[in-house]
Amino acid sequence: MRDIQGDISSLKTISTIPVVMKRLLETINDENSSFVDLSEIIQHDQSLSERVVAIANAPYFWHSGLINNLEQATLLLGYDLVRSIAISVSVFDLLGKDEGRRMKELWAHSYEVGLIAGLLCDKVPVTSGAVCFLAGLLHDIGRVIFYTLYAPEYRAVMFDEAVIEKETGLFDADHGTAGGWFLEYSLFPEEIISAVRHHHSLKGCEKHKGIAVTVHLAEALSSLFTPRTEADGSWSKDKERLFYKNGLKKEDIDHIGTIVRQESPFIENFFEM
Ligand SMILES: [Fe+2]
Ligand SMILES: [Fe+2]
Repeated sequence: MRDIQGDISSLKTISTIPVVMKRLLETINDENSSFVDLSEIIQHDQSLSERVVAIANAPYFWHSGLINNLEQATLLLGYDLVRSIAISVSVFDLLGKDEGRRMKELWAHSYEVGLIAGLLCDKVPVTSGAVCFLAGLLHDIGRVIFYTLYAPEYRAVMFDEAVIEKETGLFDADHGTAGGWFLEYSLFPEEIISAVRHHHSLKGCEKHKGIAVTVHLAEALSSLFTPRTEADGSWSKDKERLFYKNGLKKEDIDHIGTIVRQESPFIENFFEM
């Protein structure tokens, strides 16, 4: 069996990783790094910089429409949040041009799950909306990590209906586990790591269960609103029960569905930036 955790920790040494991603990963492990280093890295890549600013204006960061550049984003959101957003956005670039359409679809799926998780968090606050949004945005990061490390084998199962079983057969770990390891290595907050790790199964989730349930339900709701091949969760009777058990109502589904449909042009055009 492979040493997946070891491979993830040496991700930045892989030749196909873009320089900007390598430098971002390096600043994470450098305790002397500051927002000046971070801004320099992000600004070097205009497309990344524009996308970080676009995400910083998402409703969960409380400064919607007010942030025009990276300095403002760092000033208003803080170093940690901007760094998390930059890593979230740049990780999707790892899928590269060969997987252009699928990259966009996986991004759209991920952004939608983030959006829904943030909206659910407005109804039943389990943590800040910003943290729920990021956890949703990053929930499938493990699929990108598997692809980056093991593309020849993984490409065939990445969007398979039985992706979890196939991954476990290949790597003895699913993408929730692999995503959790990547985020642990990248020093993300513990609650985001827990939500990503348990987004397919809440079994064994002891700590930060509220956010894990939120992302688990957000994923199922996204498949209800916008079915895609890249979606890997589905709405079921069990999830419906869990939804109502957490104090949510039928009207909440309708309200969230309306917002997802309104946001859809922004989501679809994000990678054209
Ligand atoms: Fe997933
Ligand atoms: Fe997913």
